Amino acid sequence: MIASSNTPPIVKMRGIYKYHFTRDVQTAALNGLDLTIHPGDFVAIAGPSGSGKSTLLNLLGLIDEPSRGTYHLHDQEIGALSRRERSRLRKESMGFIFQSFNLIDELSAAENVELPLIYLKVPLAERRRRVAEAMAELEMNHRMDHYPRQLSGGQQQRVAIARAIVTQPTLILADEPTGNLDSENSRIVMEKLRQFHQQGSTIIMVTHSEEDAAYASRIVQLFDGTQLLSENEFIRQ
Ligand SMILES: Nc1ncnc2c1ncn2[C@@H]1O[C@H](COP(=O)(O)OP(=O)(O)OP(=O)(O)O)[C@@H](O)[C@H]1O
Ligand SMILES: [Mg+2]
Repeated sequence: MIASSNTPPIVKMRGIYKYHFTRDVQTAALNGLDLTIHPGDFVAIAGPSGSGKSTLLNLLGLIDEPSRGTYHLHDQEIGALSRRERSRLRKESMGFIFQSFNLIDELSAAENVELPLIYLKVPLAERRRRVAEAMAELEMNHRMDHYPRQLSGGQQQRVAIARAIVTQPTLILADEPTGNLDSENSRIVMEKLRQFHQQGSTIIMVTHSEEDAAYASRIVQLFDGTQLLSENEFIRQ
């Protein structure tokens, strides 16, 4: 699916600032960032350590709030929503993939994948069906009852991806999804993301890897909390 500037954006951020406070230091992690993401985009967020990539992903994923600026998600101004409404929107429309998988050790693979559906109050029979589908999609249906510690790193990340897609989110957010994987498992994960993108998913991925960034349709280069824009990007924004 080719993103076009005529379709309304999924994400529209304008003048975003984010300050982090510690006891005696204030860090400006994002400095007046503008970002537009269209349906079907596959965006890689790149940039040096400390440039604000994870901070940006947390704002995009409604895990954190900007200090200043506006964020429209599907034409909805996030700042106008209550905490409860934001949380609901996050559960319904976002799928997260992390570098360190973040599976719950006490739950089986299938139970981990089921959890987001329980939060959304999806009935049991439907949950079972969707978990089986998501696990099959990631070729992990032979490991439904395994616990995370009984799985390899690559397998754990595939379970985590199944958990991210089981709610059929409109946005998939990934923070260095291959950071803890060997090259073969990295390739498997990136091919999966490519496939979701080709099927129409919108993906935003933070990465340090040039190989991973090459899978994206667009690279957003962050530097000191602002975006280095190419000429093309100036026109689109
Ligand atoms: N919770 C926090 N409290 C205080 N400062 C923070 C916090 N989170 C991030 N920062 C600071 O904000 C800046 C941006 O951090 P961020 O984690 O977004 O960078 P990053 O681009 O993801 O880096 P990396 O590539 O190392 O993961 C850094 O200077 C960091 O020290
Ligand atoms: Mg980071």
